[in-house]
Amino acid sequence: MKVLIKNSEALVFPDAAGRIADHITCHQTATLGLATGGTMTPVYQELARRHREEALSFAGITTFNLDEYVGLSPDHPKSYRKDMNDRFFAHIDIDPQRTHLPAGDAPDPEAEAKAYERRIDAAGGIDLQLLGIGINGHIGFNEPSSSLGSSTRIKRLAPSTIEANRRFFERDEAMPTHAITVGIQTIMRADMIILLATGERKANAVAAMIEGPVSALCPASALQFHPNTTVILDPAAASKLALKDFYLAIHPRGEDQDLL
Ligand code: GLP
Repeated sequence: MKVLIKNSEALVFPDAAGRIADHITCHQTATLGLATGGTMTPVYQELARRHREEALSFAGITTFNLDEYVGLSPDHPKSYRKDMNDRFFAHIDIDPQRTHLPAGDAPDPEAEAKAYERRIDAAGGIDLQLLGIGINGHIGFNEPSSSLGSSTRIKRLAPSTIEANRRFFERDEAMPTHAITVGIQTIMRADMIILLATGERKANAVAAMIEGPVSALCPASALQFHPNTTVILDPAAASKLALKDFYLAIHPRGEDQDLL
């Protein structure tokens, strides 16, 4: 894993957006794996700004999001589909037909999960996967105890995830308890992965992901087996890494030039 520790939180998002922009400039028909969560908002804002002001085009790009809440229709105000449309897709020139999320309101969610995995395969797999991380080490909605060999399926949300995501729902609104999520093996098949984490509340999960044993207790630790993963952190998210000084010696200020 390449571990980049930026000098501040504000430097994390333009770095990630710049990598995505460079990739789609070179590969205009790339397939991107996209994530939801608050961490992604500034990344999508920066990509939309580059589209507006610098003519960055998404016209040939295909996207697959990681997950969707079971039971929420695409136009439900709290669905990830609506969130992605409002926050990102509406602000760029992507063809809506080429943006994919699992259908949370599918009559047979298990069948929808299997069909979603097939749709990713039929598109030739994910070239670049963007990831956040949950405070319990989840990626997508692969909660602790997920099989590290899993493909797209239904997962029950952990109580800490329901608590963490409650802020996106109304005060008295019932939170979904299950999600359709791509699996850990689905994520591992991506050619390139960029994972972002900021803030102290992610520090334990980040340390377990990068330095802990590979374990279903921290699903993101499976990424230790991925050959092309870059993790971009702010100082707070990096604060519990035992080898922090080593990562900073290799990549001073979190800049991406190898000083081997
Ligand atoms: C959700 C998503 C994850 C995301 C995580 C962290 O549970 N399913 O893909 O990484 O939340 O979200 P945030 O960036 O809001 O901390």
